[in-house]
Amino acid sequence: MSRSIMLRGTVVLAVVLTATMADAQDSPDYFRQNCMNCHTIGGGRLTGPDLKDLSKRRVGRDWMIDFLLNPKAVIDAGDSYAQEIFDASGGKVYMPVGPGMTKQRAEDLLDLIDAESKLEKSQFKGRQFSNKPFTTADRKRGRQIFEGTQQLKAGGASCISCHSMHDTPALGGGRLGPDLTEVVTRLKGRKSLSAWLVAPGTETMQPIFKGHPMSDDEIHSLVAYFEASAGKSPSEPSANRIALLLMGLVGAAGLVFVFDSLWKRRFHNVRRQLVDVSSPGDHP
Ligand code: HEC
Ligand code: HEC
Repeated sequence: MSRSIMLRGTVVLAVVLTATMADAQDSPDYFRQNCMNCHTIGGGRLTGPDLKDLSKRRVGRDWMIDFLLNPKAVIDAGDSYAQEIFDASGGKVYMPVGPGMTKQRAEDLLDLIDAESKLEKSQFKGRQFSNKPFTTADRKRGRQIFEGTQQLKAGGASCISCHSMHDTPALGGGRLGPDLTEVVTRLKGRKSLSAWLVAPGTETMQPIFKGHPMSDDEIHSLVAYFEASAGKSPSEPSANRIALLLMGLVGAAGLVFVFDSLWKRRFHNVRRQLVDVSSPGDHP
């Protein structure tokens, strides 16, 4: 009985391990999860440059491999090409090292980018979002999605459990993630924020949305809400703390008052009893 459970456990473990290893070796999957939130192949620049025809850049393949292994080191070493692409991206964002990056992984990714560059339409062209001006209805729906009054279709957790916005009710927003009031500015505008939300690539966000991607419509609405909030002053965590503290103080003061009057009344009663009891025998 327990033998068969153990056996089954081992089989499940083996299946999971093989799946994870296969996953780790699959370059398209790796690119989708770790690169696509900042790069397209043939869909224009996002936070980082469009990678189409990468092999035709004036630096060679070895340079690209060094760069993928440690972008910051290559940029800081100060060669002119690195400086150019760094400046073209705003001169502030160092590309992060891909998780578990190795020379082999870098080679595979460059091969993938080459192959995809030759296609009419790469699978990494990125989703094409409409440029239609946002409407009031879009912004309203975005706020509902953010606050979780409207569920995400694929079932991702609502944003408000970890983030707040300038108009999030006091004590309403979670503190695990940053305030998103200025996120359109931080993530460089509508197009690049939309692309970011297609495949969030950061530590906490990635596992939440990997299996539950947001739809184009949902992203459209959220970005409408975020764009309208830019320039408003973000929710103030210390103001929320002060509110909590005040509520605590008022509560505590109330309790002291109640106890105080209860105590006084009791003391009073006891004294009166003592007086009542002792008075007859006081003067026998
Ligand atoms: C957070 C955004 C971000 C992520 C994620 C990211 N990159 Fe980049 N990438 C950049 C930026 C920005 C640059 C421009 C150089 C700089 O500023 O660091 C760049 C530059 C590059 C270049 C050189 C482009 C050129 O035109 O010469 C390559 C190649 C590249 N990235 C590949 C990748 C790959 C492969 C991944 C996934 C493992 C990846 N990047 C993940 C932001 C990113
Ligand atoms: C379980 C907590 C959690 C939930 C739920 C969550 N986030 Fe996040 N988010 C984070 C954390 C933590 C970060 C900081 C980066 C990281 O660790 O992933 C972050 C980062 C971000 C960023 C990048 C912010 C920046 O300034 O770079 C955006 C955009 C974002 N989240 C949007 C959303 C949206 C939209 C939703 C809802 C659809 C959402 N998040 C739901 C925890 C969460």
